[in-house]
Amino acid sequence: MEILAINGSPRREESSTRKLLLAACEGAMAEGADTITFDICDLDIGYCTGCGSCYRAGHCFQNDDFEVLYHHLLTSDGIILSSPVYINSVTAQLKTFFDRLADAIHTQRLTGRYGCSISTAGGANAEGVAEYQNGVIRVLGGTTTGSLGVNILGDPMAVERAIPDAKELGSDLVRAIREKRQYPEQEEEHRMMRERMIELVSFNKDLWTSEYEYWRDQGALPR
Ligand SMILES: Cc1cc2nc3c(=O)[nH]c(=O)nc-3n(C[C@H](O)[C@H](O)[C@H](O)COP(=O)(O)O)c2cc1C
Repeated sequence: MEILAINGSPRREESSTRKLLLAACEGAMAEGADTITFDICDLDIGYCTGCGSCYRAGHCFQNDDFEVLYHHLLTSDGIILSSPVYINSVTAQLKTFFDRLADAIHTQRLTGRYGCSISTAGGANAEGVAEYQNGVIRVLGGTTTGSLGVNILGDPMAVERAIPDAKELGSDLVRAIREKRQYPEQEEEHRMMRERMIELVSFNKDLWTSEYEYWRDQGALPR
């Protein structure tokens, strides 16, 4: 079982968010999973230009590190997203990656897979930004198992104290994957989203050819 862990902070080893992410990975490994971690600031990922070429071709015209991370997103069993709060949201680096996922949303690529999220804030709203990241996992079709937000508020020990919770978040993600845990309210959300996406792609079938073919190959649209 492989867990993909993404750190949205540009502070690498200095990052508090990364500390919690690595603790979550430790928890996942203790349950027998392999983990692969990326500091998103080390990747060269260009902005989405909104051209729609991924809807037509199934891949972006930009030849950059997005493909590396996307490959792991498509092949890993679980995902842990993490970011510090920057101006009440995730960092621009992580948001830039999210913006490149419109085709993955139209085709609900995380269907059947699980994820969770982590955030730290200097002041407030770490929980909200962790939940925002979980919302991204869900809009991709994935199921979220939990989140962790830590508001540091000038307390240097706040992150240390949260390490056991981060480990448990990672362990629980692996257990949820293994037992194929059901979350009825999320399943309803997924069912509605899948229906909406199939309808949208079908409506745009002459333009969004790759997405139409994807759903057709899944048996959701006629040949
Ligand atoms: C550009 C920037 C914007 C920030 N915006 C917020 C904010 O809106 N709210 C907040 O509580 N903290 C904010 N912070 C503080 C960070 O969220 C906090 O220091 C975080 O723990 C840093 O995580 P890291 O060590 O993983 O990089 C901001 C920090 C920076 C550098």
